[in-house]
Amino acid sequence: MELHNDWYKRMSFYQIWVRSFADGNGDGIGDLYGVYDKLEYIKSLGVDGIWFSPLYPSPNADYGYDISDYRDIHPEYGTLEQFQKVLHKAHEMGLKVIMDLVVNHTSDEHPWFLESRKGRDNPYSDYYIWRDKPNNWDSLFEGKAWEYDKVRGQYYLHIFAKKQPDLNMDNPKVREEVKGIMRFWLDMGVDGFREDVINFISKKEGLPNGLPFLPAVNGMPYYKDGPHIHEYMAEFRAVCMEYDCFQIGEGPMTTVQSAMKYLTGPTKSLDMMFSFDHMMADCIYTEYVHRPFSLIKLKKAFSRWQYALAGKGWNSLYLENHDHPRIISRYGSTHYWRESGTMLAASFIFQQGTPFIYQGQEIGMTNIRLHSIDDYVDVSTKNNYHTYHLKDTIERRLKRIHLSSRDSSRTPVQWDSSPYAGFSKVQPWFYVNPNYRKINVAAEEKDPDSILNFYRKCLALRKSSKTLIYGAYKEYFPKDPNIYMYERSYGEVRYLIICSFARLPVKVRIPQNYVGKKGQLMLSNYPDGPQVMADSLRKRAHQEVNMLAAEHGMFRPYEVRVYRFRERAREK
Ligand code: NOJ
Repeated sequence: MELHNDWYKRMSFYQIWVRSFADGNGDGIGDLYGVYDKLEYIKSLGVDGIWFSPLYPSPNADYGYDISDYRDIHPEYGTLEQFQKVLHKAHEMGLKVIMDLVVNHTSDEHPWFLESRKGRDNPYSDYYIWRDKPNNWDSLFEGKAWEYDKVRGQYYLHIFAKKQPDLNMDNPKVREEVKGIMRFWLDMGVDGFREDVINFISKKEGLPNGLPFLPAVNGMPYYKDGPHIHEYMAEFRAVCMEYDCFQIGEGPMTTVQSAMKYLTGPTKSLDMMFSFDHMMADCIYTEYVHRPFSLIKLKKAFSRWQYALAGKGWNSLYLENHDHPRIISRYGSTHYWRESGTMLAASFIFQQGTPFIYQGQEIGMTNIRLHSIDDYVDVSTKNNYHTYHLKDTIERRLKRIHLSSRDSSRTPVQWDSSPYAGFSKVQPWFYVNPNYRKINVAAEEKDPDSILNFYRKCLALRKSSKTLIYGAYKEYFPKDPNIYMYERSYGEVRYLIICSFARLPVKVRIPQNYVGKKGQLMLSNYPDGPQVMADSLRKRAHQEVNMLAAEHGMFRPYEVRVYRFRERAREK
């Protein structure tokens, strides 16, 4: 029986990728001193918790996701004491803190690996996956998934970069290490973990060759949801249950069916999973394989997860993180920057689940365009550029990078219009997006209609409403190519969220069961409100409005409206 607390359902989270968040000690690199100073800002958004991408010592081959010490803080980001100060203050302010748990792999500079490579008969020799002969798997980040190590005289498996050797989770000692790491942070007071590529940690015995015609992902059928995954997850769950902690797993390429095994029933081991389906409405698997954005695909993905988990599991809701380019540049429009940024906020925050907002998303940061591949720093960006479409012109290959690079989400957060966007007093470690004079926190604080203030309104509205937290989800007109319309209902109250993804004005149909109903307009992203009500809307906010009669069902580009209805759906 699940005795676990479900406080996470009422929460929303803010994700910090610390290197680019705020530089507090003046070296051009974001750090925990900067985080400490910004906790009031984070709290002011209306979120209830922080997820820290890895803060641990790391050679930064994959910017923190290659860990060389699980029980310390990277000196560039501060010290354990500084982390504890942040944790303590966050807790005082009512913010939970979750850490990234990256245990599919370590850094090749982790002492375990340094020992393991020394030979076949030391205590760490089976901590990693060594073979005399590699199979045909590709790595997701860098060429083949096997690297020859001269010292040991064998190949080691790395599903990600060469500097990220995979741990051998079949070794009980490795699992004990993982549990020890969890306890270390839980004892310090953290509230849970985001578990990196956790569905990859159990590999099929014998490591069979993959299908040769599936580049990059050919080994995936043998390492995703592997044979012992649920046993191992149960062991980690048991640790978590000793504390009032929660776990969210990252599930690359997971289907909703396989996610259900982690989220429900006797094998439940996670409270939520980060799925990827909805991040593929403009690409195939990775943003590097681009296709035009399809709202239908996005809606299908949203609704597939909403319906499948209804009453059984709990969704995580996100549109951005450190692995995806900025969402306005993908699913919105930089031309209709404010409109699409605000509409996108409402398109996901009001679904059933726990929203995660990524740093800079709340001010509508957009993709950066750098001029040469050498200006990019992300290992997978460079790999994509140097591996695929080599016959294309440099312009075309760079265009793909502009659309797809993870570096776009890793530019310094734009705090104000001063040099380096107020992120640092010195030249930052990475390029600042030149649009920082327009897109920055200080400017948006002053503007009641900014993207920033719209995020605040959405999070506050969600928090104020049982319906928006727990209510049932229903989508209307799933085939409409321009409008995403969904309902949340709980008891007598229903919300209808109507999002236009169109660049032109479009007509919106009203669902049959809403015809003639009166709803309150709770939120809209055109400062003058729905067109017909124009100037009097703000004064009349929360007054009863008949949607149909008052608005003729026309929505302007990227318009969003959130209505609340008090009567029963089918009441006559
Ligand atoms: C998923 C993380 O979010 C990503 O940043 C990282 O590169 C891979 N896992 C490998 O750890």
